[in-house]
Amino acid sequence: MQHFAIVTFGCQMNQHDSDRIGEVLRGAGLSEVSEPEAADFVLLNTCSVREKAEQKLRSEVGRLGVLKRERPGLVIGVAGCVAQQEGERLMKRLPQIDLMIGPDNIPELPALLADCVAGGPPRVRTEFDVEAPSFLAHSIAYGPSAGRAPSAFVTVMKGCNERCSFCIVPYTRGPERYRPAHEILDEIAQLTEAGVREVTLLGQTVNSYSDPAGLFAPPVLEGAGKWQGAGEWQGAGEWQHTEHERARADESEFPELLRAIARRAPGLARLRYTSPHPRHLTRSLIRAHAELGVLCRHVHMPVQSGSDRMLKRMIRRYTAAEYLERVTALKAAVPGLTLSTDIIVGFPGESRSDFEATLDLVERAGFVGVFAFKYSQRPFTPALKLGDDVSEAEKSARLAELFEVSNAQRHTHLNSLQGSEVEVLVEGRGKAGQWGGRSERNEIVHFASPYELLGRLVRVRVLRANKNSLFGELADAISDAEPLSTTVSSELGEPAAAKPLRRLPLSPV
Ligand code: 5AD
Repeated sequence: MQHFAIVTFGCQMNQHDSDRIGEVLRGAGLSEVSEPEAADFVLLNTCSVREKAEQKLRSEVGRLGVLKRERPGLVIGVAGCVAQQEGERLMKRLPQIDLMIGPDNIPELPALLADCVAGGPPRVRTEFDVEAPSFLAHSIAYGPSAGRAPSAFVTVMKGCNERCSFCIVPYTRGPERYRPAHEILDEIAQLTEAGVREVTLLGQTVNSYSDPAGLFAPPVLEGAGKWQGAGEWQGAGEWQHTEHERARADESEFPELLRAIARRAPGLARLRYTSPHPRHLTRSLIRAHAELGVLCRHVHMPVQSGSDRMLKRMIRRYTAAEYLERVTALKAAVPGLTLSTDIIVGFPGESRSDFEATLDLVERAGFVGVFAFKYSQRPFTPALKLGDDVSEAEKSARLAELFEVSNAQRHTHLNSLQGSEVEVLVEGRGKAGQWGGRSERNEIVHFASPYELLGRLVRVRVLRANKNSLFGELADAISDAEPLSTTVSSELGEPAAAKPLRRLPLSPV
């Protein structure tokens, strides 16, 4: 057993897990190949949030099964949400699979693999680590100094305590568990020392964070009967939640975590997070955005629907007006901040007027990016009992209509940037040889330069807007960079292909 390949489906959390799985396997002496055809062990890291992703897994296992007939020594593994959700049942249906491993069992992978190679029976390990949660950190060989990306994900929490009626995540990722703040801070400090300039904090409801070790717990003041939590202080003229009591209940220690990161890692240029739940976008989080320059002026926050009737059936615990109220306050506190979101169309019972309420919200919130999905029924979820009464044709028509509106908004936004300068974190080179990266507000930007710029922050003058990206020229005078060598990494796709980068919120966690 020498070579492994990982095929990843789904969200950033899965991508992050795949990166950590790669490190665990390399640590066990295996080396990675990009093509499954060249591997002795292929691991499919799966997503089950929507039915389509699961279908993709089945066809991939079928394809690998053909390879296995030619090379019976090939070991096929399945990791991630489908493994967690389906376990042995899936193994019975797809006997080509040799081992299945849930997201919390990744460190056990080398031992399971050794068992398989030694001729052991198929193995399934899908236990949640509820008692003693562990969080996989990056290996030291990270960042531009190791020839890797200047941008990294750091997990701050896993699991989900929400019970959104459409969502399988609580059943595939388990209850919320938070990573101790000191671990998060240490990992980010190590990453920035290795040259990482941008960190994206990851979690299914990332902004519900609280430190299990109590680092941010408010001091208990002698004789003070009043609540002393993070959101209590109020500056003059500051926006307040309409629903005070509810907002207070939704307060978390996430803003404190952000502040602590900014203090501990002054070398960090950009801090992002995904995905926040709207109910934890509280006043203190908005204040953190206004105060911390390191926080990027872009937030991806799933809204799911603009209809209160649907939001209630989805058990989202906010109204469209509350969502708007909060993002309006955020935009007022951080001028120029852009928003993107997730939306489900065709949720059970969604009428034309419910859908129109969603279109209305998309306009009013001014989203520059919308990730929209047709509702699909998922096992275990409470919405199963609501049926699935919106026809496939109607779902497709609504999806197309929604994209028309949201694409128009994105084009208007990208066009408005022509002639301006944006700061770009250079992530790699596309096939056409141009450099590419992201602006602070998450726009994909391409430009040409004969210098080695991987991992640098540069200013780019925007010359034109493509469908999903910007094209520009370097506005900085570069005097301290090497001329290009021929061996640069190629992380970005062709500019013309407008393929989203791996780090876009493709399908947020
Ligand atoms: N059907 C369709 N879309 C879904 N999502 C989650 N569950 C479902 C489902 N059952 C979408 C939501 C979520 C994103 C990750 O996937 O919009 O934010």
